[in-house]
Amino acid sequence: MNGVSGRMGYRQHLVRSILAIREQGGVLLADGETRVQVEPILVGRSEKKLADLAAKHGIEHYTTNLDEALADPRWEIYSDFLVTKARAAAIKKAIAAGKAIYTEKPTAESFEEALELAKLAADAGVKNGVVHDKLYLPGLQKLKRLIDSGYFGRILSVRGEFGYWVFEGDWQPAQRPSWNYRAEDGGGIIVDMFPHWNYVLENLFGRVESVYAKAVTEIPERVDEHGESYQATADDAAYAIFELEGGVTAQLNSSWTTRVNRDELVEFQVDGTHGSAVVGLFGCKIQPRNATPKPVWNPDLADEHDYAGDWIESPGNRDFQNGFKEQWEEFIRHVVEDAPNEFDFLAGARGVLLAEEGLRSNAEGRRIEIPVVALDAPLETVEVPGDASELTGAR
Ligand SMILES: NC(=O)c1ccc[n+]([C@@H]2O[C@H](COP(=O)([O-])OP(=O)(O)OC[C@H]3O[C@@H](n4cnc5c(N)ncnc54)[C@H](O)[C@@H]3O)[C@@H](O)[C@H]2O)c1
Repeated sequence: MNGVSGRMGYRQHLVRSILAIREQGGVLLADGETRVQVEPILVGRSEKKLADLAAKHGIEHYTTNLDEALADPRWEIYSDFLVTKARAAAIKKAIAAGKAIYTEKPTAESFEEALELAKLAADAGVKNGVVHDKLYLPGLQKLKRLIDSGYFGRILSVRGEFGYWVFEGDWQPAQRPSWNYRAEDGGGIIVDMFPHWNYVLENLFGRVESVYAKAVTEIPERVDEHGESYQATADDAAYAIFELEGGVTAQLNSSWTTRVNRDELVEFQVDGTHGSAVVGLFGCKIQPRNATPKPVWNPDLADEHDYAGDWIESPGNRDFQNGFKEQWEEFIRHVVEDAPNEFDFLAGARGVLLAEEGLRSNAEGRRIEIPVVALDAPLETVEVPGDASELTGAR
């Protein structure tokens, strides 16, 4: 587990996933009886941090030497939660060592490199997976169930709001790492969020066929973890429209510079001919067409109707696990007993492509079509922006 001292590596991957799996006695396989136990080795740059984490959680193994860990056949899966910038080089080593690989998104800083990783992994025959955590959120699982049941009729549009205020770091510390706000360090909300939007859209509604994005750096100067001021060179808000296969239009706002006036930090409204739904991380409320009010526009009269009261909360009807853990269990089953896994490096590369084309759309001020990405497609058939670094930095 490389990068376990980080925000995602520690909380979601180590504590909530791997240690939770270890605690429950391992991953249950398809026969319903056999369990495969997990044994982590923590990898990082600071021996002290690793030793502290290992002691705190009763973990036997840790090392600052990635090469040695990769050369050791005891460790079957390499997992990566490093800052994005450091990821591709580490993954290439893991591919060369023949490990199965499970990684955070984005898989690489450029589409070209993300596709290269997918090709290298395929050529080496190593199993590979990329975090698709939002699909495992209770709210989105309830949405998937609505879609599968035919509830919506024909889906017309999706409107998503993601975001919250991230403090500038001067009078209150920022609640996200400062590299997120520096393009040269792999930061930016498009690079961070569009890989998520790609898999959410393609798995629930249809392949993303085009993107139009407007990216901005609303707060140009921030204060880092050490109290030093720095120039925010990356976009901290992005307003985008995606056209999806099948004719659905999705418009998604992503912002670290908005104050929350919603039930949850992310919310999607889906409108269909037969009904609508609003889902968040946990919640899911619906309004079928037979319970739809008939508003009449009248600017002369204050409207007393309680529109929020027209929605019905959709029940969970099952236990939802932590999404990161659920996907980890699926990936371990993929490695151990060849269970299916759609969320591979190629899916990860599609996410990186959408981010790259979102940045290009912003830079060129136009809608960009997204090509179908395939492992065997020669790179030249996919329009790759010349120098991605030119595209970052919003205004
Ligand atoms: N799936 C999600 O919802 C989600 C949410 C946030 C972040 N992420 C992704 O997770 C990754 C980590 O993000 P984070 O917020 O945990 O960041 P973080 O800064 O908290 O942690 C980064 C980790 O990388 C290590 N690191 C930093 N620079 C390095 C270098 N040059 N070489 C090797 N290691 C280095 C750090 O020591 C730390 O362990 C990013 O790729 C990010 O895009 C995913």
